[in-house]
Amino acid sequence: MIRFKNVSKTFDDGTEAIKDMNLHIKEGQLVALIGPSGCGKTTTMKMINRLISITSGTIEIDGKDTSNVKEVELRRNIGYVIQRIGLFPHMTIEENVGLIPKLKGKKKAEYENRVDELLNLVGLNPDIYKKRYPLELSGGQQQRVGVVRALAGEPPIILMDEPFSALDPISREQLQDELKQLQTTIKKTIVFVTHDMDEALKVADEIVVMKEGVIQQIAAPAELLENPANDFVRSFIGEERIQTYLNDHSRQSIKPFIHTMSDIPHLEHTLDSSTTIKQAVRYFIANKIDTAAVTERDQTIGVLKKDRLLTALAGIDEEEAV
Ligand SMILES: Nc1ncnc2c1ncn2[C@@H]1O[C@H](COP(=O)(O)OP(=O)(O)OP(=O)(O)O)[C@@H](O)[C@H]1O
Ligand SMILES: [Mg+2]
Repeated sequence: MIRFKNVSKTFDDGTEAIKDMNLHIKEGQLVALIGPSGCGKTTTMKMINRLISITSGTIEIDGKDTSNVKEVELRRNIGYVIQRIGLFPHMTIEENVGLIPKLKGKKKAEYENRVDELLNLVGLNPDIYKKRYPLELSGGQQQRVGVVRALAGEPPIILMDEPFSALDPISREQLQDELKQLQTTIKKTIVFVTHDMDEALKVADEIVVMKEGVIQQIAAPAELLENPANDFVRSFIGEERIQTYLNDHSRQSIKPFIHTMSDIPHLEHTLDSSTTIKQAVRYFIANKIDTAAVTERDQTIGVLKKDRLLTALAGIDEEEAV
C-alpha cells in the first residue's frame, strides 16, 4: 500500500539523509522504523505525507504517485502523531479530536459517537475528559488524545514519530499495549518510529532497521532476533536481548527433543516438527497424552515424549532428573 521506489533525500546543505530506499509497507501492518539518532527515520516518515520533499525516486500510496496528490488531501488521509503531541491548548479535547472530521466536512452528529468510542478504547472516559483542555490532562492522557485525534478522521494510514518517548515507563508500556490492542480492531496501516528496540519488538508486525539513511534489514520481530542480517543489526538489537530470546523455551523448537527412530509405532496424535516446546506441551495436556508422532513435510520422522519436554522446560539435565 505504501511503496518507496529508489527514494533518496539530500537536504539543501548537502546532507544525504536517505539513500536509494526501497520499502513496501503492506496494508493493515504496523511497521516500525528503528535506528540510531540521525539515521533518517523522521525524514522517511515526513516524505510519506510530503512534509519533506523527495530528491529522487517515488513514493506510491495504493499505486498512486504521491507527488501527484494535493498535499492537503494527502495529509487529511494520513494521521500524524508526534512525540510531544501538539494539541491545540485553547481547544477542548472534544474540539481537538473533532478537528479533522470537521475539516473533512462531516457534521458533529456523524463523528461524535466514533470519537467517544475511540476515547473509551484508550481508557479515557468521554464524559469526564471531553470538555477539558489539554493542560488539564496528564502527559500520558494528552498522548492518548493525540492517538485518538490521528484516528478520528478515519485515515487509512497513520504515521507515529516516537509517539510514546516522552512518557514515563509505565504509561509507555500501557500505551504500547493499547496500541497493539487497538490495531487488532482498527487494522490501519501504521508507520511507527522509535529508537527503542523493546518497543519495536513489542508493537511491530515488521521492523525496518536503518543506519545512515540505508535500510539494513526488514523483518518480523522473531525473524530479526533469530537472523540479524549483519553486525550492525546484531549489535543494535543487543546480544543480551538475542540470547534471552533464544533461551526462551516458549519459542524453542521441539526439534532437539524428537526421538528419531527407523521403526516408528503408529500413534494417534501427530505434531509438526515446527511446533514450539510450549505449543507441544499445551497439546499434550489438552489431549491428555504422553507421546506423539512428529511429522515433517508429511513424513513421520520420530516420536516426541512429554517427559522430555517437561525436563527441558524445568531446565534440568536428564541425568540429574533420574
Ligand atoms: N532540514 C534539514 N536540513 C539538513 N539536514 C537535515 C534536516 N533535517 C534533518 N537533517 C539531517 O538528516 C539526517 C536524518 O535526520 P532525521 O531527523 O530523519 O533522523 P532521525 O532518524 O529521525 O533521528 P532522531 O532519532 O534523532 O529523531 C540527520 O543527519 C539530520 O541532521
Ligand atoms: Mg526523528
